[in-house]
Amino acid sequence: MPPESAIIQIEGVQKRYVLGGEADVFALRGVNLQVNRGSYLAIMGPSGSGKSTMLNILGCLDRPTAGHYWLGGEDVSRMPDDQLSEARGLKIGFIFQSYNLIAQLTVLENIQVPLLYQGKDLRAYHDHCVELANLVGLGSRLSHRPNQLSGGQQQRVAVARSLVNDPLMILADEPTGNLDSRTGLEVLEMIDRLNAGGKTIVLVTHDERVAARAHRVIHMKDGVIDREIINRPPPR
Ligand SMILES: Nc1ncnc2c1ncn2[C@@H]1O[C@H](COP(=O)(O)OP(=O)(O)OP(=O)(O)O)[C@@H](O)[C@H]1O
Ligand SMILES: [Mg+2]
Repeated sequence: MPPESAIIQIEGVQKRYVLGGEADVFALRGVNLQVNRGSYLAIMGPSGSGKSTMLNILGCLDRPTAGHYWLGGEDVSRMPDDQLSEARGLKIGFIFQSYNLIAQLTVLENIQVPLLYQGKDLRAYHDHCVELANLVGLGSRLSHRPNQLSGGQQQRVAVARSLVNDPLMILADEPTGNLDSRTGLEVLEMIDRLNAGGKTIVLVTHDERVAARAHRVIHMKDGVIDREIINRPPPR
């Protein structure tokens, strides 16, 4: 069992993509990792080293083919699909490089999407969603659709959406990859504030300057953690 402080504990996690015999890909080859509550972890490494595979497993979008994963103390590595998606909906917020907003929905509706998956009554959460839109500076854009927003604004909608279920942690895969440096910085500052407010953050990036904001950086290579750097002490 993982210690109380651990939000993520993985042990011997492997991921093999079965394509048939020799063609199988071992994307993760035995990864051990503990992430404590309130910490900010960056994952770096060359293309194909397994970063997104790892983030997908941490986010319960995929399952390891071997090894164990405890999320908030609960072993999710062998959970059936319906329970896994429930755990995902309750415990995890996602931010993706390409924002992944729904084009037909307004800003407010996009923020509400995770609530729909949880079968929540949207009316009861209306004020909460407006507050989140204000938090990310889009209170005056509630009825806009994604194509009426800049890239940075779209990513801020994604940040608000990631928060709507008050998740245990936020996972971000190259959240600033499509943004110019100034807009990217605004999103990173927003992520810093979430972490300062106690949210656990795990973020994949190719950019050293982005990784420098995290408490701790792990470098992946060929499906394993190759090295680790502590930037500053995590909160206790
Ligand atoms: N669905 C899949 N089926 C088969 N192989 C896959 C699949 N997804 C990823 N892979 C392989 O697994 C390895 C790790 O991929 P992954 O996407 O995790 O890399 P990454 O570190 O995120 O790379 P990048 O920096 O380019 O995003 C790669 O060799 C990739 O080709
Ligand atoms: Mg990737």
